[in-house]
Amino acid sequence: MRCDQTAAWQKLQQHAQAFKGFDLRQAFAADAGRAAALSQSAPCVFADLSKNHVDAATEALLQELAQETGVAAHRDAMFSGAHINLSEDRAVMHWLLRQPAGSLSGALAAPLTQVHDTLNAMLQYAEQVRADDAITDVVNIGIGGSDLGPQMAVLALQDCVLPGKRFHFVSNVDGHELAGVLQGLKAESTLFLIASKTFTTQETMTNAHSALAWFQAQGGREVARHFAALTTNVAAAGALGIRTTFGFWDWVGGRYSLWSAIGLPLAIAIGAAGFKELLAGAHAMDRHFQTAPMGQNLPVRLGLLDVWYRNFLHYTSRSIAPYHSALRRLPAYLQQLEMESNGKRVDRNGQALSYGTSPVLWGEPGTNGQHAYFQMLHQGTDIVPLEFVAVKRPTHSLKDHHALLLANVIAQAQALMLGQDDAGGHRHFTGNRPSTFLLLDELTPTSLGALIALQEHRVFVSGAVWGINSFDQWGVELGKVLAKDIHARLVSGDASGLDASTASLLSRVR
Ligand code: F6P
Repeated sequence: MRCDQTAAWQKLQQHAQAFKGFDLRQAFAADAGRAAALSQSAPCVFADLSKNHVDAATEALLQELAQETGVAAHRDAMFSGAHINLSEDRAVMHWLLRQPAGSLSGALAAPLTQVHDTLNAMLQYAEQVRADDAITDVVNIGIGGSDLGPQMAVLALQDCVLPGKRFHFVSNVDGHELAGVLQGLKAESTLFLIASKTFTTQETMTNAHSALAWFQAQGGREVARHFAALTTNVAAAGALGIRTTFGFWDWVGGRYSLWSAIGLPLAIAIGAAGFKELLAGAHAMDRHFQTAPMGQNLPVRLGLLDVWYRNFLHYTSRSIAPYHSALRRLPAYLQQLEMESNGKRVDRNGQALSYGTSPVLWGEPGTNGQHAYFQMLHQGTDIVPLEFVAVKRPTHSLKDHHALLLANVIAQAQALMLGQDDAGGHRHFTGNRPSTFLLLDELTPTSLGALIALQEHRVFVSGAVWGINSFDQWGVELGKVLAKDIHARLVSGDASGLDASTASLLSRVR
């Protein structure tokens, strides 16, 4: 049933009215059990939701909403391999990429075997590259889901990265990026990975052609040794002269593809064993999502909280603050995950919606953000729920730093909530600002895998409540088509039929 037609939706609207005077400080004072009731553990992740604008009644009503909108049934449909991506008539099975070998029977047994055959071949290749001292630089050429996941993860797991190899990520069609990377490279010691699900993406194809031309101009001859393609379109890679290819399947969305052949740069960086740990961490979260009771199911609770904030308290954005510099690309990764998945204005059947969907997701690592935009979070006119991600144990041995870092993240969550009443005017902090606190014991391939799978599933849950297709992305198509037209006009100078602004910009850049 459409979420806005459920009984729970009406009840939540009334509850939101009655909730207007809610105050976090009073909620904690009135209920000694609040922190415990609104905290929970999931694989590798401890979550404290208690500093959010929710109470037990909110959570109960949100659970009713999940029931009425069939969230559990939709989840089970995804895990059964049903074609829940209706607009593309595809299954949604990124979870299968982290499923242990031989663990499924029936229709999913054969795809699982293919997954492991490809995984084994890719990991064997990764180990071969790791052992090859002649290769010092690995350049991943890809964009969106073919860039953000491996880039984020290689940075996040920098302490596990093989010394002696450098990793570069080129995504933008802006030649400054590729030119800057190529400047420091030698053809004989470079491996290019061309990562593209479709192998048609303009940016990636342009960069791939330029990299090939550079390689040949540098005297490079063995394309087979220095180029590999990660794609569902093996034939198109072959047409470019690339013989080493690792495939994946149309049931893996780009932004969900870190676990597939798209993860090859990460596998080279951290090795086959590390990559398997990443998959195992994500699989543990898959199991939690599938089996934990709905009220103690972390992706479910987070996804429902997102719906509550978006549709009932009308908070339109969420900020992510990873307090770990190695997680500095996590906000960008999560931005694509959530906004490309749930930035939709029609339901699964194409009918226009009358309620809001994806929030704006944004952020920077702490403590940097504290000295930039946190001012607005503390004293601005809008309420922006903040999601902190902290890691208990550091991997460096520098004295003092980590305690200071952890003190800051806890203090920020506290300050947002407590505010400061005893000063007026500019020094007044209203407090009562919501935040979620996610804590990992340490940042390892396993915990990173669990954290990312948690985020995938929370996006699934809010998308399921909203009744949208979280697995297509038609919204990016129009810009691609128009760019082709403008590109042709840039060459020809033909501005006929264009609006005055576009025509004037065209003539200025020519
Ligand atoms: O333009 C959007 C998009 O299709 C993303 O969904 C995807 O991750 C990215 O482009 C790259 O696509 P591909 O891997 O096919 O090159």
